[in-house]
Amino acid sequence: METLSREIDLSVFRERFSDYDASPGQVIPLLQLAQGLFGFVNPGVFHEISRHTGVPISEIYGVTTFYAQFRLTPVGEHIIRVCHGTACHVANANSITDAIEDELGIKNGETTPDGKFTLELVSCIGCCSLAPVIMIDDDTHGRLTPDKAREVVRQYMEAPCEE
Ligand code: FES
Repeated sequence: METLSREIDLSVFRERFSDYDASPGQVIPLLQLAQGLFGFVNPGVFHEISRHTGVPISEIYGVTTFYAQFRLTPVGEHIIRVCHGTACHVANANSITDAIEDELGIKNGETTPDGKFTLELVSCIGCCSLAPVIMIDDDTHGRLTPDKAREVVRQYMEAPCEE
C-alpha cells in the first residue's frame, strides 16, 4: 500500500482500468480500487475515473465525500483502530486511547509525522469478549491495559518497514 512517504504513481491505477466497464456504475468500484492501491482516494484519480466512466469530476467528488468508507487524506503504514463500542467503552477504552495517543503524540484521525501510524476510534469490531480491543491493520489485540497497549504499539514501531 502506498503511504505518506511515497509518491503516488497513477499509472498503476490506469493499468487496472481494463478490468472495469467504461460506465457510470464503475465509479464506486474504481474509487475502491484507488483506495486499495494508495490507502486513500488521491484527488488525482478523479480525472482518470471521469475520463473512463464519463461521470463529471464534481459528481465523483460528491460520491467520495458521501461514503464514509472513502478517505481523501493519506494514511500511515499501520492503521490503529481503537474500539469504543459498548463493551470496550465499559472496559475503559478511553484509557487505551489515552495511552496510544500519548505514545504516538497524535489524536484520533491523525497520522504520525513519519507516516508510520494512523489512529482511528471505531465502533464495535466484533470481538466484545476480548474487550478492550484494538486492531492494528488486520491483527486484533484484546484484554488490553494501557501498558499492554503501549507495548503492542511499540512492537510495530520496531518492526522493519515492508518494501
Ligand atoms: S465493543 Fe469493542 S469489540 Fe465489541
